[in-house]
Amino acid sequence: MKIEGLQSGYGDVQVLWGVDLEVPAGEITCIVGSNGAGKSTLLRTISGMVAAKAGRITFCGKDMTHSAPDAMLGAGLAHVPEGRRLFRGMSIRDNLLVGAYLRRDARADIERDLEAVYAMFPILKERQQQDATTLSGGEQQMCAIGRGIMSRPQLLMVDELSLGLAPRAVEKLGDALREINRTGLTILLVEQDVVTAFELARHAYVIETGRVGIAGETEVLSADPRVRQAYMGI
Ligand SMILES: Nc1ncnc2c1ncn2[C@@H]1O[C@H](COP(=O)(O)OP(=O)(O)OP(=O)(O)O)[C@@H](O)[C@H]1O
Ligand SMILES: [Mg+2]
Repeated sequence: MKIEGLQSGYGDVQVLWGVDLEVPAGEITCIVGSNGAGKSTLLRTISGMVAAKAGRITFCGKDMTHSAPDAMLGAGLAHVPEGRRLFRGMSIRDNLLVGAYLRRDARADIERDLEAVYAMFPILKERQQQDATTLSGGEQQMCAIGRGIMSRPQLLMVDELSLGLAPRAVEKLGDALREINRTGLTILLVEQDVVTAFELARHAYVIETGRVGIAGETEVLSADPRVRQAYMGI
């Protein structure tokens, strides 16, 4: 995916002021930055929930700048939103199946992918009939990621993987993302915790008030004094 000069916001409030970034296929890329920098707005603009005011979003070789969320999902983009947003009053299994609602392939293929999600996160299988919103924070994140995978995406975007979770849960989810990535799925991760983000991702973009500040390989950026001081507290 390629983003060029992307501008967007809410009504008269402009949040993104010309964002350029590239998400190489098959790799994990992260976006970090302070609260309110525009990270979630960027993901929402990519997934069509917030309209782009200017710029271009190229996804799978096509200009998808003004596509609706369903069209983006259909084209292979899954968005795990900040705060997970599972459906209350619905079981874990049904929440996972919501991810597959646009799929037109055979029921058996969807069931097979459901089993693959359960194999990755066995707790979801054990509790599959339980209301998804009664899960712990870490388990809800598993369910939200699983729901994303159920759409069979080309690109999985995860907004705030670690927010509010204990280190052990974050570690487990990080391992799961690595495993998912090894199957060839491209991942774009927004993460408050820069150390966690840099451990997982090969490339990083630092967003500062709606623009890309520093960008590069995480290996290089984690040694950059500007990044260490401002974002890693080192
Ligand atoms: N629905 C909305 N309506 C109006 N303004 C919004 C809305 N959502 C976000 N904003 C504003 O857009 C700016 C960027 O917010 P955004 O949520 O994209 O930041 P963020 O980088 O994801 O922050 P955080 O790290 O806290 O999640 C903020 O000033 C915020 O107040
Ligand atoms: Mg956010």
